Amino acid sequence: MAKIIAANWKMNKIRSEAEETAKVLGQAIRDKKVPADRTIMVFPPYLSLPTVSSALEGCGNTLVGAQNFYPEKSGAFTGEISLPMLQDAGVDWVLVGHSERRHVLMESDAFIARKTQYALEHGFGVVLCIGETLEERDGGKLNEVLSRQLSTALDPLTVDEAVLEKKLLIAYEPVWAMGTGKVAGEKEVLEAHALVKKLLGKRSSLPVLYGGSVKPTNAGALLALDNVDGLLVGGASLAADSFLAIINA
Ligand code: PGA
Repeated sequence: MAKIIAANWKMNKIRSEAEETAKVLGQAIRDKKVPADRTIMVFPPYLSLPTVSSALEGCGNTLVGAQNFYPEKSGAFTGEISLPMLQDAGVDWVLVGHSERRHVLMESDAFIARKTQYALEHGFGVVLCIGETLEERDGGKLNEVLSRQLSTALDPLTVDEAVLEKKLLIAYEPVWAMGTGKVAGEKEVLEAHALVKKLLGKRSSLPVLYGGSVKPTNAGALLALDNVDGLLVGGASLAADSFLAIINA
């Protein structure tokens, strides 16, 4: 079944390392060593975007995205990067709302909503990440948190629904399962993904990816679960062989 497998390299790899990994991936894709029904996405650090884009050129069903951007065309925003700059680097997808941006860089729901609308209205695809902390889960707030994160970002969208169908993906990433080695159990993933689909309402056909300590050893079982349309992989996407094993799971 068609699945989307995304690699988030976070703040890892200098350019030569990114190039090496992307070349191995590109070769495997060109040699048809990955199933034809997989869409592969790679989110490298900014400086490696042009290199990774060119290493993956000509690989059908492969998209390169940026881990972040600032929602203005240009101007006095020291340290930020714009969508035209990303476009220039061969990129037309972005991650928005990743838990590290929410909890380490303190991005608010309102800012995440603004970025979602801005990227989509400027022709970029968006992977909107949502997920609860352990404290929120233990406090019985799963529904409330996911509902708030989704509705603040999606309710105000003025983009055509036909565009959203092609350009918007949701990634459910429980914060407590990310980079911790603690993968959410089958029951928890099923429950959360069913909830996300329900909360999406008329947009329930949007793909929902799972992220959080995905490894070659658990990827197949996760992909087999209802309402899991793909995976967003951090640590285990850094080595080409491990990411390829996940793509092939
Ligand atoms: P992880 O990260 O796979 O290393 O847990 C996932 C993510 O942050 O997207």
